[in-house]
Amino acid sequence: MQDSVTVVILAAGLGTRMKSRHAKVLHRAGGLSLVEHVVRAALNLAPPERIVTVVGYQAGRVREALSGFGIGFADQAEPKGTGHALMVCRGSLAGRDGMVLVLYGDCPLLSVPTLARLVEAQACSRHAATLITTVLDDPHGYGRVVKDSSGGITAIVEEKAATAQQRLIREINSGIYCFRADLLWKHLPEIGTANPAGEYYLTDMVEILRRHGHSCGTMLLDDSREVLGINTRVDLAVADRIFRECKVRELMLAGVTIEKPETVTVDEDVSIGPDSILEPFTRILGRTRIGENCRIGACSMVTDSTLGDGVQVGPFSIIGTSVVEAGAQIGPYARLRLENHVGAGACVGNFVELKKTRLGAGSKAMHLAYLGDATIGKDVNIGAGAITCNFDGVAKNPTHIHDGAFVGSNSTLVAPVEIGAGSYVAAGSVITKSVPANSLAVAREHQVVKEDWAKRRREKARS
Ligand code: UD1
Ligand code: CA
Repeated sequence: MQDSVTVVILAAGLGTRMKSRHAKVLHRAGGLSLVEHVVRAALNLAPPERIVTVVGYQAGRVREALSGFGIGFADQAEPKGTGHALMVCRGSLAGRDGMVLVLYGDCPLLSVPTLARLVEAQACSRHAATLITTVLDDPHGYGRVVKDSSGGITAIVEEKAATAQQRLIREINSGIYCFRADLLWKHLPEIGTANPAGEYYLTDMVEILRRHGHSCGTMLLDDSREVLGINTRVDLAVADRIFRECKVRELMLAGVTIEKPETVTVDEDVSIGPDSILEPFTRILGRTRIGENCRIGACSMVTDSTLGDGVQVGPFSIIGTSVVEAGAQIGPYARLRLENHVGAGACVGNFVELKKTRLGAGSKAMHLAYLGDATIGKDVNIGAGAITCNFDGVAKNPTHIHDGAFVGSNSTLVAPVEIGAGSYVAAGSVITKSVPANSLAVAREHQVVKEDWAKRRREKARS
């Protein structure tokens, strides 16, 4: 049955009510764009070659956002309504039999089981179409479902076109329909624009099909949260909260401890191993993977990074596009800015920043250091305040610090430079030349002590 379903996702509208320069379907909830949620759901019901997304407003950006899925696109040059959006697909899809599942790109919370149930209901029925409805306390803005005395749907009336009486109806159209393909493509051109908005309303299909002697069915959803259509930023925040709640719940049920889960933000594609702990206000984003037995301290943010088992991240740390191996300790107040690799058991302490740096296993930079474009071996100690001068105003230069080296506090390593294995750099040195292995480099002014100088000065001042 599966391959007899073609999915059309409508994503060409402007989204006026978002008051945004960006296409509505590209706004994000739960860490993904609205339309990506819909495409991911669709991929569970049909292969990519049977999925078409209708694009129009900022078509290039929408196509790009979905380019990884291998789905097809259709262009709706002007947003003349949801019916018109489907009309632009008619040329390429009309020959196909089976069913057409229509999804709206601004309805991201629909679950795969619900969609599968809709397709099943339509496949087993004698209706020309089946659509998902739900009952809302506040149906404002949604199309109302008009039924006859026997409970059959006769029409969908949009808010703008509804009479005062019809506006009292609380059963609404979700915007998710499964049509018999032949009847949809045959009668679609009959949709007109005789409505207050002057748009081609896809919802008119119910009346049109009925006029030709066909019935439509409804599938009433109990959980109306699933069919939330995102029209405003308020709706967006509601959807985001629902996604976040689902994600942390899923993680907790899989063995992750989450303290004050209502404050924690975890993106859709994040994975976290059992017995790891997320403290309050943590943000775990992008494609981050966290192992078992880790702790992510309060207010820390981890983006697109991989943390091995047993990694401890202190509060207020920021980790981006980095790999941290098992047992390493980060923070509090550490920043792993970009493409770093922290080896097993290494420590990156407070107010230490790493950028494009490899810190070998067991190495430590415990306080106040900047390490950029550096390759640091195993069991190296980086003293407080040590800095790699990686930028000369024109280019970025590398620093190599070999196994077992000791870089004293407040050292300044002017790159490109190399510190040999087992060497010492004396505290406060400015290192401009490479240091061979097992040496001591001292590059600072000799200390001068003038005994009784202070005493004499005070006596002079008094006289
Ligand atoms: C629509 C339904 C309404 C339903 C509600 C559910 C119609 C006429 N009305 O109203 O019955 O209760 O969804 O959320 O269908 N789009 C295009 N091209 C266009 C216009 C819209 O691709 O020319 C896309 C939009 O990008 C959006 C979707 O279709 O993803 C729905 O459009 P929207 O304008 O939000 O419809 P609603 O007014 O919410
Ligand atoms: Ca909508």
